[in-house]
Amino acid sequence: MTAAPAFSFDRQRLAQLRAREDASFSARTQASQALREEARAYMPQGVPMAWMVSLNRFSPPFIQHAEGCGFTDVDGNHYLDFNVADLSMTMGYGPGPIVEAVSRQVRAGAQFLLPTADAIAVAKLLAERVGLPCWQFTLSASGANTEVIRIARHLTGREKIIVFDGHYHGHIDETLATLGEHGVTPEQLGLPKNSAAQTLILPFNDLPALEQALAHNDVALVLTEPALTNCTLVQPQAEFLQGVRRLTQQYGTLLCLDEAHTFQFAYGGLTAAWQLEADFVVLGKGLGSGIAFALYGMSDAIARHLERFTDSDIGPVGLATGGTLYASALAVTAARASLEQVLTQANFQRIEQLGQRLADGLQAIFNAQQLPWQAFQLGPRSGYCLSAALPVNGAEAQRSMDVEFIDCRRLYMANRGIWDGILSAGPQVSFAHSEADIDAYLGVARGFLTELFGLPV
Ligand SMILES: Cc1ncc(COP(=O)(O)O)c(C=O)c1O
Repeated sequence: MTAAPAFSFDRQRLAQLRAREDASFSARTQASQALREEARAYMPQGVPMAWMVSLNRFSPPFIQHAEGCGFTDVDGNHYLDFNVADLSMTMGYGPGPIVEAVSRQVRAGAQFLLPTADAIAVAKLLAERVGLPCWQFTLSASGANTEVIRIARHLTGREKIIVFDGHYHGHIDETLATLGEHGVTPEQLGLPKNSAAQTLILPFNDLPALEQALAHNDVALVLTEPALTNCTLVQPQAEFLQGVRRLTQQYGTLLCLDEAHTFQFAYGGLTAAWQLEADFVVLGKGLGSGIAFALYGMSDAIARHLERFTDSDIGPVGLATGGTLYASALAVTAARASLEQVLTQANFQRIEQLGQRLADGLQAIFNAQQLPWQAFQLGPRSGYCLSAALPVNGAEAQRSMDVEFIDCRRLYMANRGIWDGILSAGPQVSFAHSEADIDAYLGVARGFLTELFGLPV
């Protein structure tokens, strides 16, 4: 079956709209631009982290404050946030129970490099919800994936890892890799030439390709999201993830499900919702509500291995894990409050319904404009699939990542109070959104697509 061609836009119309919206955004964000000019003397690009300017083709607003699912910039523009800081603020900005817990803990000591009892509560809750018995905490999902790869390599005595095309697993040399005509190569600058030498990149939803790669018996780990969320959205076909589990077990390879994003899609993550089995599950992003926190769950057998090879300052050298601020009392307290008071079954049901409302609304707009498009939906996540068939792998998903369309859409929406960040994502409902917020998004999206395609709705 040949993949559908990429959608063909009227590029001139897009460029005209873009120019108009750019002028408007620039006029509305004068104070932000002045701050950025001042900041250029002290920070490259005038931002504390360069990624903040590469997220968009327009200059970033500097933020004054935020509440619920919205933030306000220094010019006084208010935005409803449909990306919530790439899902790192999925509980919303300033959620009451977490603010209370964290305020208490700051006064009682934010960090000790020693455990607190809250950590037991977090690990226990996750064991119950996700199904893996033991947990280790880090600062970021990148850190968690890094440790998982190291443990898998040591445990299996193998070096290779497999990821799927369309993947993103964080700031890790081995996984910042891309598949091109010269095979797998480093994806960005500054990485060692051979950083991807042990990385295989395969198409998602292709069990024969996976079996062929595993059959050499030299792969330590398959690392994948249960559904790919970093190249729009690619869902697993029926039995694909069960097949991945079966094959990894058959060939002595460990399996890690990276749920840094998808843990926020369903209660207990997709691991629980889809009854998946894995050796490791990685969580991160929103759990700390803006306080750096992530963690990975593991099977009993792996936990025993980690115990046996724990690195020691005063004894034998062990596995390369850990860091000074990992598992700070503050982050652990935030995660406990999130799990106990926000990530409840009832709240997940609510955001799934809102996700459905968002996807149905987008689909209705596409239909009204006679676009052969589909609205993505998985729990609270939606998005723009620019073809009639949903993608089954990263290459197909890439066709919906039309930079000019996304850039113009986001600028138009930002000018009307909607923040829809991250090129590779779609709008996402957080725990702080309401029906009225979804309808506000849809109203602006309708305005944009109507202006672009011209059919009155
Ligand atoms: C699936 C997945 N894993 C890991 C990461 C890395 O997360 P962090 O940047 O918090 O380390 C990301 C970030 O987007 C992600 O989407």
